[in-house]
Amino acid sequence: MKSSIALIGFMGVGKTAVAQVLAMRLCKTFVELDGLIELKAGKSIPEIFQEDGEVAFRELEIEAVKEIAGNKNLVIACGGGVVLNKINIDRLKQEAVIVWLTASPGVIMKRTSQDGEGRPVLWGIRTVSDIQSLLSFRKPFYERAADIKIDASRLGVDAVAEQIIVKLREYEGFSK
Ligand code: S3P
Repeated sequence: MKSSIALIGFMGVGKTAVAQVLAMRLCKTFVELDGLIELKAGKSIPEIFQEDGEVAFRELEIEAVKEIAGNKNLVIACGGGVVLNKINIDRLKQEAVIVWLTASPGVIMKRTSQDGEGRPVLWGIRTVSDIQSLLSFRKPFYERAADIKIDASRLGVDAVAEQIIVKLREYEGFSK
């Protein structure tokens, strides 16, 4: 039986906020993967990208996943690109049910543009169709990794958490 949950999905779909609520409601421990990476690196995600490059960031991401993946009773908010390395998903799946949050490109555009410059992958991205292209590239990775899928475009954080709880009840192999 699995006792942890890992939230995956594109930037701006609400993984971190939903994971916090979910962890409270299920009495599990909230972990933000990006936060862990920043702690270990001693610098912010934008600084890692700028000073060391994306490849170095992905290596740190692999290390962070490795460190927490076997732990029980976590709700993990993953970075949007965690699915790009299959080893991450293989490791997460040992103990976590993988929940994929989706949102439309328009919603993603709106949410990420409000968040400023904290997302290096979106630095050159200006239009909804740019977001759409990146989403299309990543979609098969999310699809392959996901055990449960939830469309978070029209729902608030609490409603998304509630839907996840409902689906987890139906999911065989997850123990509260
Ligand atoms: C990334 C998403 C970010 C962060 C990094 C790379 C990505 O996390 O891990 O900037 O490649 O999609 P969020 O999805 O929390 O923004």
